[in-house]
Amino acid sequence: MLINGAGGGVGHLAVQLARWKGARVIAVASGKHEALMRDLGADQFIDYNKTSADTAVHDVDLVFDTVGGTAASRFLKTIRRAGALFLAFPLGFDAQDEAELLGITVSSTQVRSSGAQLKKAAPLLDDGTVRVVIDSTYPLASAARAHERAEQGSIQGKIVLVLE
Ligand SMILES: NC(=O)c1ccc[n+]([C@@H]2O[C@H](COP(=O)([O-])OP(=O)(O)OC[C@H]3O[C@@H](n4cnc5c(N)ncnc54)[C@H](OP(=O)(O)O)[C@@H]3O)[C@@H](O)[C@H]2O)c1
Repeated sequence: MLINGAGGGVGHLAVQLARWKGARVIAVASGKHEALMRDLGADQFIDYNKTSADTAVHDVDLVFDTVGGTAASRFLKTIRRAGALFLAFPLGFDAQDEAELLGITVSSTQVRSSGAQLKKAAPLLDDGTVRVVIDSTYPLASAARAHERAEQGSIQGKIVLVLE
């Protein structure tokens, strides 16, 4: 499984859940995330500033693209026939026809609060199988600063707002 944007809020959790499920994980992110990605269990790391992941890798079963948009179609050539492309941000993806010709399933979903899923996740957090990495923390009253941090990009893990 290849995870693009692996250092971010969604990506770093996807890396850990994929490892938990037994996948061989290729993490794609900027170089500053390499040590964390290896620590979280990624089998291979690709710095997208040095190597184009979509051409460096072939025949993966699944690409989870957290960056998404129009550029996600470049990963179709990275996936084996009957494989899958999952988009965290599907807006702008316009290569459904090409995906169909290649036999690749493209899907997306919108996160919803689910007590049942959190109940399953809790033991994984308790026993350290999944770790939430914190990029930065702000009091709720400084939420604007949190947004400024988000706008800077290159986030590693989650931004947390603290209720006091
Ligand atoms: N469908 C849903 O329910 C759902 C839920 C949550 C989020 N989302 C969406 O998913 C996307 C990601 O959310 P997030 O919270 O993970 O964002 P984030 O924390 O900002 O993470 C994005 C990551 O992508 C990396 N990145 C930026 N450009 C890249 C590139 N060209 N190639 C590879 N990596 C790149 C960034 O760091 P580096 O550049 O340093 O590697 C960063 O770590 C957003 O569009 C968000 O709206 C969807």
